[in-house]
Amino acid sequence: MAAAGSAVGLGNIWKFPYIAGENGGGAFLIIYLVCVLLFGMPLLMTEFLIGKRSGKSAFGAFRELNGNGRWQWLSWLCMLTALLIMGFYFIVTGWCFNYLFEAVRNTFSGMSTEALTAHFSAVASDTPRMIAFSLLPMVLTAAVVWFDVNKGIERLSKILMPLLLGMMLLMVGRVLMLDGSNVGMQFFFRADFSAITPRVVMEAMGQCFFSLSIGMGALITYGAYMPKNQNVAATSVQVIVLDTLVAILAGVIIFPAVFAFGFNPAEGPQLVFVVLPAILQQMSLTWVSSVLFFALLCVAALTSTISLMEVMVAFICEASGALGQRKNGQPRRALSRQKSVMITSAVVGVLLVLCVLSMTGKADWLTIRGYNLFECFDDMTACVMMPLAALGMAVFVGWNLPKDGGRGVLNPSQGVKRWVGKAYIFALRWIVPLAIVIIFLNSLGVL
Ligand code: PFF
Repeated sequence: MAAAGSAVGLGNIWKFPYIAGENGGGAFLIIYLVCVLLFGMPLLMTEFLIGKRSGKSAFGAFRELNGNGRWQWLSWLCMLTALLIMGFYFIVTGWCFNYLFEAVRNTFSGMSTEALTAHFSAVASDTPRMIAFSLLPMVLTAAVVWFDVNKGIERLSKILMPLLLGMMLLMVGRVLMLDGSNVGMQFFFRADFSAITPRVVMEAMGQCFFSLSIGMGALITYGAYMPKNQNVAATSVQVIVLDTLVAILAGVIIFPAVFAFGFNPAEGPQLVFVVLPAILQQMSLTWVSSVLFFALLCVAALTSTISLMEVMVAFICEASGALGQRKNGQPRRALSRQKSVMITSAVVGVLLVLCVLSMTGKADWLTIRGYNLFECFDDMTACVMMPLAALGMAVFVGWNLPKDGGRGVLNPSQGVKRWVGKAYIFALRWIVPLAIVIIFLNSLGVL
């Protein structure tokens, strides 16, 4: 449930619809599902197995499984990815909190399509407000990680996640009754293969990694906490099914409404924030529905930010104890969890402020070739850094460990059928690395 909580988040409800909308709808959906089948299962299993076998988070796990330190760079890459994702994810979580507060004050009542679009622009370009609203979820996340109350959060999400699913199903029912909703369904489910370009494939792969939280070591930590007899394959299937279901539901809610209300499907990152209030205005018990939906969205976002922050905090704890020696030759003492949380929050806080300044146009020097930091972090992490780390993990576990006598990590055992184990190893050694390399080369125009 905790791993599902990490996977299901804004990636499903915010990012999936906007990326699908920008990349042709149905064609994107098909490529996305192929990526989930190709990469999801072997990579989720790999991260769980690395954690389960080593009992550590990314830094300690790579050190323990491979004594010579040649693969340690993977844990640095994971940590850096977590940092950059936090640099924009808290901003989107801040938008959710802002919308929750506005739903409580009934701000959206009677707003037209144009007014909702203008409203989002006004919110997103208000620098002090954006800074305050991105720091708020960061502080909440830091508090959870500080007090190490993940167990409580897991119990809470066991109740709230089904509630979110139920709420989304009700919204599906409502949007499908709107006039013109069938155009949106066609856009989302009818594949126009001429729309598929190397860039679309790259985006679909990136979205798959981002949405399933793979290629970042977050799930290594969850693997470390798994009971010995937990079936890794079955757990991976559950996470994949739930995550994909929520993404598809989000598409089925957003696209019919986009066409029924006259929005543009290629609106970009603001897509769901202009469409959702319009849908919620059409629900019965409008105020209750709106407040409940945005509150659940905030919780879904927080269960993901907790796992993101955990990666960096665990990295700082483990790395500070392992790197270097004190002058007297004694090993250094690891930093406490609390100190690591403070360091992480300070760095992420600075990054968030810079990201907001770059988005609101307050600092032109904070853009890279015309792209603001938000766009850079989002694209770099999903399309380059996570696939690269996944490629590294696949080669490390698939090819390197057997030679080092670490075969155990390749053995999912405990309740996993023999053929599943064999198929897993084959996929990890051949399919995952080849597919990632081909997609990279293709998008660079080499193929
Ligand atoms: N999977 C999360 C989402 O879909 O919102 C985002 C995320 C969380 C990515 C944790 C990576 C991660 F380690």
